[in-house]
Amino acid sequence: MTVAAAGGNARPTMDVAVTVNGRRHVLRIEPCDLLVDTLRDQLGLTGTKRSCDVQVCGACTVLVGGAPVSACTYLTYEARDKEVLTIEGLAQGDALHPMQQAFIDHAALQCGFCTPGMILAATALVREHPRPSVAAIKHYMRGNICRCTGYKKILEAIQAAAEVIARDGER
Ligand code: FES
Ligand code: FES
Repeated sequence: MTVAAAGGNARPTMDVAVTVNGRRHVLRIEPCDLLVDTLRDQLGLTGTKRSCDVQVCGACTVLVGGAPVSACTYLTYEARDKEVLTIEGLAQGDALHPMQQAFIDHAALQCGFCTPGMILAATALVREHPRPSVAAIKHYMRGNICRCTGYKKILEAIQAAAEVIARDGER
């Protein structure tokens, strides 16, 4: 990390190295920049959605160091020297991740706004808890809200993906 000199009324900025979807970036940010804005505005990764802005809805969920975080309340600075995974980094070329495929196969989306955050949180879930129970899924996913209320299909998709991943791995 380097900190640029702030002259006059200029707002202080700093350079931080962040790895996003396997690619290292050196980003010029302000100390207060939020990860959701850096991802969307600097890197064009608009799959990460912003909605409530107060860590309630989960639309902005990304994985940092493998753990789900709300990018709307997570400073970009906090992600320095860490690995960030967004929905754009989950597929391998044209091959969808099993969680993405399960959401399609089970029609677990309607408007799709919550879907990137749901899929990333669910991916972290099955990495932590292979073949989770229904109760475990509901507990882990409680921070992700679907305004279309498609929870039954989402639950089925996560269960199906967990089976596939437990059997075949993530690829
Ligand atoms: S926009 Fe971040 S939790 Fe809702
Ligand atoms: S599919 Fe519309 S908010 Fe979840």
